[in-house]
Amino acid sequence: MPITPNDQKRLPRVFSGIQPSGHLHIGNYLGALKQWVKVQHDYESFFCIVDLHAITLPQDPQALCAGTREVAALYLAAGIDPQKSTVFVQSHVPAHSELAWILGCLSPLGWLYRMTQYKDKAAKQQAEASSAGLLFYPVLMAADILLYHTNAVPVGEDQRQHVELTRDLAQRFNHIYGEVFTIPEVMIPLAGARIMGLDTPNAKMSKSENSEYHAVFLLDPPDKIRKKIMRSVTDSGSEITFNDDPARAGVNNLLTIYQAFTDESKEAIENRFAGKGYGHLKKAVAEVVVEGLRPLQERYHQLINENGYIDDVLAQGAERAATIANPTLKLVQERIGFLKARGKT
Ligand code: TYM
Repeated sequence: MPITPNDQKRLPRVFSGIQPSGHLHIGNYLGALKQWVKVQHDYESFFCIVDLHAITLPQDPQALCAGTREVAALYLAAGIDPQKSTVFVQSHVPAHSELAWILGCLSPLGWLYRMTQYKDKAAKQQAEASSAGLLFYPVLMAADILLYHTNAVPVGEDQRQHVELTRDLAQRFNHIYGEVFTIPEVMIPLAGARIMGLDTPNAKMSKSENSEYHAVFLLDPPDKIRKKIMRSVTDSGSEITFNDDPARAGVNNLLTIYQAFTDESKEAIENRFAGKGYGHLKKAVAEVVVEGLRPLQERYHQLINENGYIDDVLAQGAERAATIANPTLKLVQERIGFLKARGKT
């Protein structure tokens, strides 16, 4: 692993991010945020609100701006400690865009067309109309990760392929220009890495789905959470067991949500629900979700009303992030052969 001067004896690093492209749901919480809260004690942590990624699909400017603060407040409300972890907005550190351009010039188009998330998102639009940004998206994600000499990237299952591309790009750069980048590992939670839609148990829960009963959002009031879970799609059977039968994906998803919120073993959960009906399961899941989100919701409402607090955290975060990102970018520029601007150190 390449060591930069200020890296000596440092803790291993994690980097991760969430797009402010809509309200966060329990998939984002269980796949990403919940594990960030745990890892921040053992890693030097960088948690980013990735607004540059959000604009790969059209965003309403006011909603994007408000959503960026909302996501930052949710990070803190979930338990990210800004004294321990660096919390910042991606566009506040221009090195992200600059490195993305450089890495883009090293990325074969074939690698990008192969990304399943690109294929899914582009398929939802007319092929010609989908933006170049959508295709370029994983390159920007690679830049995010590589700027910080990141060792591990805690994300949900849907981001695994993007982290693999990041590794490939880092290796390619290191091979051509000499060692600069650390090769990151993906870090996927044991439970909750892929939460499915409540009304579409064979498709991932997603922020952009319009149906009212698709996702539980982190700021949904308790009654709404209960209503959504009670309406979730199951099947005509009666057995409550973890399983990978697509026809029983709804029950498996409810059990997975229960497991991810309670950290109980699969066996203990199956025993708890043995002989019970789906109505009972849904009520129990609704309660663990309501109670699991209660402290986060309370803290969120306090934080978002504290005048200027979130913006202060983000300003300090961006300043700290830049102290790591800028030297990495500088080293990359030197290796590539860019002429140094006169007067710049
Ligand atoms: P995004 O905003 O789509 O999702 C944020 C995080 O939530 C996880 N996630 C899920 N986990 C379980 N079940 C689901 N249904 C579910 N939906 C989303 C995602 O895996 C992710 O961890 N490209 C990233 C953001 C990003 C990033 C980065 C992540 C930009 N740069 C650098 C890590 C490192 C994204 O769009 O996440």
